[in-house]
Order: sequence, then structure tokens, then C-alpha cells
Amino acid sequence: MSQKMPTKVSMEKIVSLCRRRGYIFPSSEIYGGLSSTWDYGPLGVELKGNVKKAWWQAVVQRRDDMVGLDTSILMHPKVWAASGHLEGFSDPLVECKGCHRRWRADELKGDKCPSCQGELTEPRQFNLMFKTTMGPVEDEASIVYLRPETAQGIFVNFQNVINTTRKKLPFGIAQIGKSFRNEITTGNFIFRSREFEQMEIEYFVKPDTDEEWFQYWLNERLSWYQNLGIKKEHLRLRRHTSGELAHYAKCCSDIQYLFPMGWEELEGIANRGDFDLVQHAKSSGKSLDYFDDEAKERFVPYIIEPSAGVDRSVLAFLIDAYDEEPDKDEIRVVLRLHPSLAPYKVAVLPLSRKEVLAKVAKEIYADLRQCWMVSYDDAQSIGRRYRRQDEIGTPFCVTIDFESLEDKQATIRDRDSMKQIRVPISELKNTIQAKLEGEDLFVLPPGGKVWKEG
Ligand code: GAP
Repeated sequence: MSQKMPTKVSMEKIVSLCRRRGYIFPSSEIYGGLSSTWDYGPLGVELKGNVKKAWWQAVVQRRDDMVGLDTSILMHPKVWAASGHLEGFSDPLVECKGCHRRWRADELKGDKCPSCQGELTEPRQFNLMFKTTMGPVEDEASIVYLRPETAQGIFVNFQNVINTTRKKLPFGIAQIGKSFRNEITTGNFIFRSREFEQMEIEYFVKPDTDEEWFQYWLNERLSWYQNLGIKKEHLRLRRHTSGELAHYAKCCSDIQYLFPMGWEELEGIANRGDFDLVQHAKSSGKSLDYFDDEAKERFVPYIIEPSAGVDRSVLAFLIDAYDEEPDKDEIRVVLRLHPSLAPYKVAVLPLSRKEVLAKVAKEIYADLRQCWMVSYDDAQSIGRRYRRQDEIGTPFCVTIDFESLEDKQATIRDRDSMKQIRVPISELKNTIQAKLEGEDLFVLPPGGKVWKEG
């Protein structure tokens, strides 16, 4: 684990907020939980979905040179022999001779058991792939593996994609999906678990252009996190030394984030060279090369791979968004999530539960839900309701008061500044859409006015 650095929020606060507000729960909790597995709750599933959507929009939807795939988790066992995972996807494991706890040797500070100071065994390589069997007979021939990365599903479909899309180099294939690793040590909430989701790009290029594309993707991916609100000073690049490179990588840089436990990997960007296509071509006997029409040459493309963790991204977005500020005699907790990531974009809050107000509020609620995830809250004081929405990161609250019945207007309150404007109910949808896209709060629609400046 890297050196500890002070960050503004502890992991305990994030875990507690996630638990309390329905972002993330321990898995199988009523049975005491299952170590390092997590369930995304009603808000978590929205946030996670929005992270994946933002990634897909950036790397597939808005580009000409990318297409998507969704491949199976279980693959032919020969895939894992050819990819080198059966042989080399392992971590050094040591066991305490006293308490029998197991540790990753390369993460230990000294040569004693961190738990009881007992003597440790010599390290042995421990393969991280989960094994299971396929079909009704459990024998050697039926062994299959849960994929430890989504990448291999892309490599084995390289020719299928070329043949069906007629894509020309350089082009990429993107995939989001679950991966599984039987990690020796897990922890730090959803940072390292045994079941997690990845967002991977395999970008195929001419061999002599690999270094410039590697640099291109480093910049692209760094910008993606920053455009979604992660502070520049909380991100950095770290190049792998030759000793720590994965078995397939020519070179690799991590995008690191300043987590509460220190700088840690958020995403890895690797130059995999032609390793994977060559290996699969050899092992399957099927050609996986590319014919360049213009240069009239045939070659095996090199691959640049930006590989991000969905769960680690969710954690980084939550940590970076978390803020506490004094508010009268209390502390206001506010999740300053980017609007495109926030689970609810809007909350509709009638000032009272009286039928006359509830009727109008529910009509507005029904209308806004056609566009976004919207929350409706009529319990307790308006101040408390604002706080509840701030804490879960809802960018805008729409309040309907008794005046609304007369002037047919409602107020929009901005989460970050707590400032308010009042706009005709008929203008609510367009106004909120513009604000979600980044328009200043005080750019007003026809008939709108500043309500509360702070
Ligand atoms: N295909 C390349 C690959 O899988 P990796 O660096 O092993 O590279 C990529 O993994 C990303 O997947 C990491 O940067 C991290 O965000 C995420 N990841 C890897 N192992 C994880 C784990 N045990 N728990 C949560 N996320 C993990």
C-alpha cells in the first residue's frame, strides 16, 4: 500500500454515508456478509449506471473509431492458456506458520505475519482465477474459469468485428462487464474486491504508431475523470517499472487517484503490443492479422488498452464529491457529484402535504420523471429535505409553495450554492435541462426571477 496522504474525507465516512443512504450495502448482510463483496443499493445502482453511461458516451457513442461488445464471462479454457493467465496470472502468497493467515508477499512491510508476528512460509505463486465446472460432469475436462479481465472477449472477437463492421485501423473495441479475481487480500471498501466491473478499451493500431496512441489515450482518459469533476490535483500518472509489468505488457502507466489510504491505481493504460493476437492466432490456428488496403501489407496490429474499474471510479467520484461545510450550528454534508453522475437530477418538494399543493407537486413530479430520475419528498421541514438531497448529491430541488397556486411558478434551488431562482412551472423542464448541461443558475427563462442569492 502506498504512503498515507491526508485527504479531506475518511473511508469510514464514505462507507457510512453509502450504507445509510442506500448507495452500497455489504453483500448477504443478513447472513453476516460475505467478505469483500458488495451490493449496490437504489442510489448506487443509479450512480454506477451513470458512470458506465458517461464512459460509453465518451468512448463509443461520440467516436467514429470505436464500437462496443458484450462478451460472455465463461470462455473456452484454451483462451486462458493462450493469454498466459493460467501460467502467469498469480500473486506471491505466504502463510503464517502460527495463525495460518495468508498474505500477499509483495505487499508486506517486514518478514513477519502482520497479525501475530509469526514466522511466514516461503512465497509460492497463487493463481487468481476462479475455477468452476461446466455441465453435469465434474472432471478435469469440464473446468472453466470466471474471466479475470474482459479484454480476452474482445481479442477473440477481433476478426468478427472487422468482418462485420469493416473498421479500418486505428480503431477500438469497448466493453463493460464483470470480472473476477480470487485476490489474496481485499479491502478498502469497493476498491479491491473479488467480483468487480471493468470498462475496457482495446485500441488496435499500426505497430509503429503505438507510442503516440499510448500517449493519446493517457491524455484522453485523464481528461475524462477531470471533465466529470475529479480535481486535477487528486489525479496523477505513474509509469510501471519493468519489474512490475504484467506478462502481456510492453509498457504501462496507471492513472492514480488520491484515495483516503493514499495514491492508488484507478485505471491502467497498457501497450500490449501484438502479444494477445499473436498468442490467440497460434493457439486457435485462426489468422488474427489485418490487411491494410492502402499500404497493401498484412500485419498483426498492436494494442493500446485503457482499462478502468467501474467500482474504483464510483469510489473516486464519491470521495471527490464529498464535502462538509458549516451551516448555522450544524454541518452540511454535500455530495458535489457532476450532474450527469448524480442518481437523482431533481427532487420535487411541496412545502406542505396539503392536498392543494400535493396535487400540483405530483403533476410536476410526473412530468419531470419523463426526462430524468426524480425524487419526491414531503416528509419533515423543507430545511431537512434540502439537507437530505444535498447529502445524496441531487443537483436541483424544485419547491412548490402556496404562492405557486397563484403565480404558477416554482423555485429551483441549486445544491452547491444553495441559491434559488423562481421560474414559471411551464419553463421548469427546459430550465433544469439547461442547468444540468452547465448553464449558470442566474440565466433566467422568460418570466423567471432571482429568488434567493445565498
Ligand atoms: N485488462 C487489463 C487489466 O485487467 P488491471 O490493471 O489488472 O488490468 C484494470 O485492471 C482495472 O480494473 C484496475 O485499474 C482497477 O480499476 C480494476 N480492478 C482490478 N482489480 C480489481 C479488484 N480486485 N477490485 C476492484 N477493481 C479492480
